[in-house]
Amino acid sequence: MTPSNVAQPAADDPIRVAAFEGRIAAGETIEPKDWMPERYRKQLIRMMSQHAHSEVVGMLPEGNWITRAPSLRRKMSLLAKVQDEGGHGLYIYCGTETLGVDRHDLIDQLLSGTAKYSSIFNYPTLTWADMGAIGWLVDGAAIVNQTVLAKCSYGPYARAMLRICKEENFHKRQGYEIMATLSKGTPAQKAMAQDALNRWWWPSLMMFGPSDKDSPHSAELLRWKVKRKSNDELRQRFVDLTVPQAHAIALVLPDPDLKHNTDTNHWEIGPINWDEFFNVIKGNGPCNRERLEARRRAHAEGAWVRQAAEAYAAKQRGRAQSTAA
Ligand code: 3HC
Repeated sequence: MTPSNVAQPAADDPIRVAAFEGRIAAGETIEPKDWMPERYRKQLIRMMSQHAHSEVVGMLPEGNWITRAPSLRRKMSLLAKVQDEGGHGLYIYCGTETLGVDRHDLIDQLLSGTAKYSSIFNYPTLTWADMGAIGWLVDGAAIVNQTVLAKCSYGPYARAMLRICKEENFHKRQGYEIMATLSKGTPAQKAMAQDALNRWWWPSLMMFGPSDKDSPHSAELLRWKVKRKSNDELRQRFVDLTVPQAHAIALVLPDPDLKHNTDTNHWEIGPINWDEFFNVIKGNGPCNRERLEARRRAHAEGAWVRQAAEAYAAKQRGRAQSTAA
């Protein structure tokens, strides 16, 4: 993963590790030029690259509906959202490159099928209501996750989240408006919104990762303040925010065990189907193959754009050098 020109760091010096841990404990922000344990760097590359892949692959299920939006206004907001997601991906790839990796290596891993991206994007978008459910639930979950990531100990990642969350809020609002409009519409429209909620609710809960007891990375990431809340804490926060929103637009959550605990003031959910989760992240979800094929096709078809941009950049560099000479 690391380009050959980046010297492999020596094994972490315990004195430096102790100083690093002290900085984290003091709530300091780690910047690209700062010394960091190799494991900290590797964890960030893993998490940030998967995040960037998720943003770019996430364009596919929604892009599928741009030409079929029911009005110009809906088309414009969906188009803007999908473009935003592409920008989020590029932004986070840039952040990942501050850790000494080359985005081309990361993208090759995605295209070869060896890199992970969020499970949520391996589900099909069957009706227009899915655009509402994705904006409301998927981007809603992303906001819960990313507003906390904006306090992450690694500076470039935290700052990227600040900007991205502003756009995610627009994404969520336009999605929730679609669901509210459909829910107030004809019986067929309300049924379409309810069907989308039924299909997207549980996969949205899985976005927060396995339960804390089954998360191999959380303890380390929490200690290093990369994660500031655990998977289950963020999932609970999302549930507590979203259940009242569903009630407000008269939609029913597909969870017969859902109940409000007046002592804790939390909404308690039924069991998550973790077999489904691990199956999807293993590559056996409804759309894993289709998403990768579409991503590979887009990459191949976009080669000419990359070549033209590289040729132009080379020409500009040549001009700058001859002017400087
Ligand atoms: N989909 C795919 N893989 C997942 C996953 C999911 N929903 N949740 C967890 N995993 C994977 C992890 O990557 C890890 O696999 P690895 O060791 O091969 O990398 C394994 O399952 C164990 O999970 P952990 O909980 O221990 O892993 P993390 O500590 O990394 O937590 C995470 C997982 C909560 C997704 C965390 O990585 C995270 O917060 N990432 C940053 C945010 C992000 O990536 N969001 C993805 C959605 S992008 C998005 O929302 C776009 C928006 O515009 C809609």
